[in-house]
Amino acid sequence: LHMQTVVAKQQSIYNVAHRGASGYAPENTMAAYEMAQTMKPDFIELDVQMTKDGVLVVMHDEKVDRTTNGTGYVKDHTLAEIKRLDAGSWFNNAYPDKSKAAYVGLAVPAFEEVVAKFGRNARFFIELKSPEKYPAIEQKLLQILEKNGLLDGVDQNPRVIVESFNRDSLLRMHQLNRKVPLVQLIEYKTPAVVTDAELQAIKQYAIGVAVNGEMMDRAYVQQVTANGMQIYVYTVNEKKTMEKMARWHVTGLFTNYPDRLHEVLNRK
Ligand code: G3P
Ligand code: CA
Repeated sequence: LHMQTVVAKQQSIYNVAHRGASGYAPENTMAAYEMAQTMKPDFIELDVQMTKDGVLVVMHDEKVDRTTNGTGYVKDHTLAEIKRLDAGSWFNNAYPDKSKAAYVGLAVPAFEEVVAKFGRNARFFIELKSPEKYPAIEQKLLQILEKNGLLDGVDQNPRVIVESFNRDSLLRMHQLNRKVPLVQLIEYKTPAVVTDAELQAIKQYAIGVAVNGEMMDRAYVQQVTANGMQIYVYTVNEKKTMEKMARWHVTGLFTNYPDRLHEVLNRK
């Protein structure tokens, strides 16, 4: 009976495809999200930045250098300029064993393109990556979510969660629309410790926290849960760690390998 209970709880852990199925395809591209969707995650995660002409695009870094053939800041490029970049070839060069001809010349997607493509068939974990660099990015994101119906039924069955390391940005988001579920990202450089008071302060605007896995222990998970909050863990790619986090009953895991997480959670 005990084992059945454990398995049942494990299966309810949210599988969050981190930057898409980014272990297999160039992160934050349509190819990564298409591949992720074949693995049926609970959420697809994406990072958003804003172009010079105010368009939200899906990219992890503030600069285009690492994941495209361009250079410089996203905010100094127009969407048209960003669209000319190749966001796939870097992956082929970095991971020859996973490279595919189809990745050459992949474009940086606008956030709305990903929404348009997967809207009704996906749930989105959206990271406001550097909101301090992009005035009013919260309003812009909210407008897109509303326009595309992603906040319909948000009380019963949320289709989006917005996450950020930036507390002020989450507070602004919360002020603009109290219904959007928010998650406070935290990165611990030393063993993770948090007080109930700190968690209750976060609970004023967020449904939970997402923390880096290496520095976190079971007691931390229990403390967050005891405060009535969700706990997500990033970025978990090894099966052994997935198993451990499942035993600890975290709310969800961010992984570059959604298929691996399914294997771990469905193992009888
Ligand atoms: O969103 C959770 C995790 O993605 C935060 O780290 O650097 O991968 O965006 P990063
Ligand atoms: Ca992220």
